Amino acid sequence: MGVASVRLDPAFAVGPLNRRIFGTFVEHMGRCVYTGIHEPGHPTADEHGFRTDVAELVRELGPTIVRYPGGNFVSNYQWEDGVGPKEDRPTRLDLAWRSIETNQVGTDDFMSWASRLGIEPMLAVNLGTRGMTEAIELLQYCNAEPGIELSDRRVKNGHPDPHDVRVWCLGNEMDGPWQMGHKTAEEYARLAEETARAMKRFDDSLELVACGSSNRAMPTFGTWERVVLDRCFDFVDHISAHAYYEPVDGDLDSFLACAEDMDRFIRAVVATADHVAAVKGSDKRISVSFDEWNVWFQARFDGESSLEIREAPELIEDVYSVTDAVVVGSLLITLMQHTDRVSMACQAQLVNVIAPISTRAGGPAWRQAIFHPFALTARYAAGTVLRPAVVSDAVQTQAYGAVDQLLTTATLDPETGDLVVFAVNRSRTEDCALTIDLDALAHSAGSVGSLGGEGGRAAYPAGRQVEHLTLHDADPNAHNTEADPERVVPRAGDAVLDGSTLRAVLPPISWHCIRITEGNNS
Ligand code: AHR
Repeated sequence: MGVASVRLDPAFAVGPLNRRIFGTFVEHMGRCVYTGIHEPGHPTADEHGFRTDVAELVRELGPTIVRYPGGNFVSNYQWEDGVGPKEDRPTRLDLAWRSIETNQVGTDDFMSWASRLGIEPMLAVNLGTRGMTEAIELLQYCNAEPGIELSDRRVKNGHPDPHDVRVWCLGNEMDGPWQMGHKTAEEYARLAEETARAMKRFDDSLELVACGSSNRAMPTFGTWERVVLDRCFDFVDHISAHAYYEPVDGDLDSFLACAEDMDRFIRAVVATADHVAAVKGSDKRISVSFDEWNVWFQARFDGESSLEIREAPELIEDVYSVTDAVVVGSLLITLMQHTDRVSMACQAQLVNVIAPISTRAGGPAWRQAIFHPFALTARYAAGTVLRPAVVSDAVQTQAYGAVDQLLTTATLDPETGDLVVFAVNRSRTEDCALTIDLDALAHSAGSVGSLGGEGGRAAYPAGRQVEHLTLHDADPNAHNTEADPERVVPRAGDAVLDGSTLRAVLPPISWHCIRITEGNNS
């Protein structure tokens, strides 16, 4: 059995939890849109053709921001095709995914869907096959007050109020040779700078995301960010990062530790952005938009060129195990640990395509195993992200060397005093005996609102309740299916409060959410 001890102290905080890290991604790819979120004729479809069974699951999942419409798709997308009367919309060939795009869902339809669900939209513009003109036209179509041709077109299409989209991605993965209109860093930087300058002239309060690297192993990683930010620094607010993880050659130890890659990725991009700022003598802080991340078994995907051209094909519909869910939980912990510099993060994607929600056309929708860590983290994380002091046994990995067996973070809500600990045991074989010292919380109780007892001392954790939810299974490959959608669900764990020490034994490959609350909120 491994051992890990943790100290939590409100004096050591990363910062206020940025809820935009609980983002998601809807791309016109495979069955994410068509027969995913949208399926006119489905028994649950609303008057707009969107599935309400899926919408209910999206509500439960709890994403705060949603990126749209791609992804690689956006780099050959003509946004004008997707607005106006549906019967007039053209059917096109999407070359990113060799798919037939009917354009029955477009910007206005998507925006209304997101608005009904209370999710902030984040739009990407096409800087692959198109450029600055089409980007600023889309911006005006979406955000301008009525009175100019573009916004009047929106009004005519049934949307009198501007969509007021705040966050815009300047293209997608432009560093990737697979991208339609792929560019060198210099070519992209020039185009992004001019597009961003024009977009900010329209509205300088927009938040613009420059394309960063498609993953940390890209040969241009580091240089790409420096070149792009050097040129676009004054006009952009965020730089993107994308990462997908899978066990490589069956190396589960490294897969379970892949949050290490995400952590190093974020640190490197932050360092590069701050280097550019230093050279420019600027205090401006560019943050990281981790706007695509997930587990994706890319080894099972033969590549775009192998795809048969079809409408709404079943593309990369990975079925996720409890192990994958634990990894997803660890990636969320890492994003929270960087809440001070990660401005957005989008799990890719939302439905069917490497997604937490699966559907059958004409049939039901269900939660994949990876649904649960996301939903519970988004639901319960609140307040300030603490920086835990961790002493843990190690796990040896091929990819990252020795890593802590325990990965953890915690949030402390200053309003309620609720403490929520998120933890993962990354060992494949060993339990982890976890102790968390909450003494500092008790002694600083007076400084965090309702924690305060008499004289600001010792009201914590007395009288508080522990609720422990865990994802773990004797079979690490257990997964949910249409026939057995509840095979992997969160179950109660056995964490206990012993004075001001929290104790739990975390089984191998397990994710945990341990809440210490006053017991009257859910
Ligand atoms: O999410 C699937 C694809 O992965 C996206 O279209 C692309 O941006 C990334 O390479």
